[in-house]
Amino acid sequence: MVSEEAGIGTAGEEEAQRRLEELREEIRHHDHLYYVLNQPIITDAEYDRLFQELLALEARYPGLVTPDSPSQRVGGAPADEFGQVRHSVPMLSLGNAFSLEEFEEFDRRVRGLLPGETVEYVVEPKIDGLSISLGYARGVLVRGATRGNGEVGEDVTANLKTVRSLPLRLHGGAAALPYLEVRGEIYMSRQAFAALNEERIQSGEPAFANPRNAAAGSVRQLDPRVTARRRLDSFIYGVAAAEGLKIDAQIEALELLRSWGFKVNPRYWLCRTPAEVEALCREWAQRRHELPYEADGLVIKVNSLDQQARLGATARTPRWALAYKFPAEQAETRVRDIVVQVGRTGAITPTAVLDPVKVGGSTVSRATLHNEDMIREKDVRIGDWVVIQKAGEVIPEVVRVLKERRTGEEREFRLPDRCPACGAEVLRLEGEAAARCTGVACPGRLKEAILHFGSRNAMDIEGLGPAMVTQLVDAGLLRDPADLYFLKREDLLPLERVGEKSAANLLEAIAGSRQNPLHRLVFALGIRYVGERVARSLAERFGSLDALARASEEELTATPDVGPKIAHSVLAFFRQDQTKRMLEKLARAGVKGGAEAAPPPGGPLSGKRFVLTGTLETFTRQQAEDAILRRGGQVASSVSARTDYVVAGKSPGSKLDRARELGVPVLDEEGFRRLLEGGR
Ligand code: IVH
Repeated sequence: MVSEEAGIGTAGEEEAQRRLEELREEIRHHDHLYYVLNQPIITDAEYDRLFQELLALEARYPGLVTPDSPSQRVGGAPADEFGQVRHSVPMLSLGNAFSLEEFEEFDRRVRGLLPGETVEYVVEPKIDGLSISLGYARGVLVRGATRGNGEVGEDVTANLKTVRSLPLRLHGGAAALPYLEVRGEIYMSRQAFAALNEERIQSGEPAFANPRNAAAGSVRQLDPRVTARRRLDSFIYGVAAAEGLKIDAQIEALELLRSWGFKVNPRYWLCRTPAEVEALCREWAQRRHELPYEADGLVIKVNSLDQQARLGATARTPRWALAYKFPAEQAETRVRDIVVQVGRTGAITPTAVLDPVKVGGSTVSRATLHNEDMIREKDVRIGDWVVIQKAGEVIPEVVRVLKERRTGEEREFRLPDRCPACGAEVLRLEGEAAARCTGVACPGRLKEAILHFGSRNAMDIEGLGPAMVTQLVDAGLLRDPADLYFLKREDLLPLERVGEKSAANLLEAIAGSRQNPLHRLVFALGIRYVGERVARSLAERFGSLDALARASEEELTATPDVGPKIAHSVLAFFRQDQTKRMLEKLARAGVKGGAEAAPPPGGPLSGKRFVLTGTLETFTRQQAEDAILRRGGQVASSVSARTDYVVAGKSPGSKLDRARELGVPVLDEEGFRRLLEGGR
């Protein structure tokens, strides 16, 4: 009986193996048609059926799953960190040309090094994304890496597998090559970028500044499932190593890459003269907006690979290629007004309101002036004619004032001393470029303030993520963080994606946070410069929120870790009517910061003073501090003769030098761990 079943199993497995191969081949073919060629021939429903059959069969025969199966694109489990990959050929960067003269200079240098030879160039759009290197063994994708420092990059194989236009298995001659390494760019189309940002803004997450950052952020995600949800695309533009294959020219490399199944940019041009190259540069500086992705220039490459090899490279850039950068797009217009906006973190940003003008394919009616110093420096006044520029970034900026067009009617701008959104004081602390709103209830920064309030190291309210905070604030249920403690079940139930269970869980988490020790509450208030350590010092020194709110400047500066800058920030915070209202509410809700968990008397590190410097590998700074405090030790910020130990991680700062000077014992991570474990 048993052997018979095993027999059937084997026959079934063989059958499954055959069907799996068929399915994979078919899905690969349709993926290529859809993602690379943009020419699907079956419906989504038909495709889904194939995919479901593949998944079902692989679930039944997990032993038959292969790394190049289309099922492996969904994204595996998150990693703690990326491994390192040494590139078989370094990934160089490109020299830049900001004018055609600089290209002409490059061309003269190339010809000077290749006397009497014919030189042809291939010109390609310079995609503004993230450069990657892909390794294929016998046609199967085995390694995907970022550029890193050019020699060693990060292993992002699992993430890159989720990019649908990257083939997991190659066809044609590449399938027989023992090893192939190709180079290209991962990018996000303008359309995918706009959709992603829209979604992020909706859910209260910060938008990405440009498609480049979005692509890089998506690939360098520790959780490949997040990468899989981003609509990333690829263009492969070069062969770095191909064991057993001779390629003569870049044009040929591009054609080969395409024939193997890679997505190759359809736009590239072979130029026989420098004049042809220059014509392309002029043309595409104008037409760049027609491209469905962002390109910041053109890459000009010597076509012959033999000539490339002879030209070689300097330390960081090849002598056979050049990036021609499109000029930043500028236009002239008038500043109608200067208004201020409150950013997510309370930063007050002056913004120029402009007479609408066309720049870089879109109409611009606002430009950022960054901060007060910038306005002074450029001397921008209301009524001025200015040059504005769009440089890849989403928000255009003012480059300079056309002072010769002034009439004398222009008005200077002064930053208001009250926040335009909430009326709280605007504070610009010493050494800071930005002025900030001090209002805890400021609508401009409310969502961020509440998120911070509930975050892990603050009040640690589980379930209070960006989407929830956005809903609560938009529904008018929260005007400041204290309102959290007055939320009721009936408030939550009408919200999207909130059921009985999640409502109960959130209310319980909020209620549970009432007991948190005072230092967490102080940190949660989001007072500028009051990080966890300072919050701890303040909590220890003043013992209650009330006492802290009444503290004088002298009392504050007499607290360890608190200097005049922090003191001013604390004073300004507690001066605001909004803060006073919030404190009253917190008191009514019974949130006053529980007792500090006293360090265990006579703990193993009792009375020992520690200073931490550098990065530890297996502890965050907070974990290391907590570990010391829990054992009765103390953590200080600077080394003195009274310091008992300095714990030095990677890239330690001057504290380590100071420790050596003073003869204070220095522990490395291993030593620190042993001490904590009581080994010494
Ligand atoms: S060729 C030796 N071709 O531009 C370097 N690079 O600094 C060969 N880039 O981040 C690079 N589009 O990823 C080449 N068509 C293209 C490109 C391109 C974008 C990026 C590249 C790198 C930067 C070069």
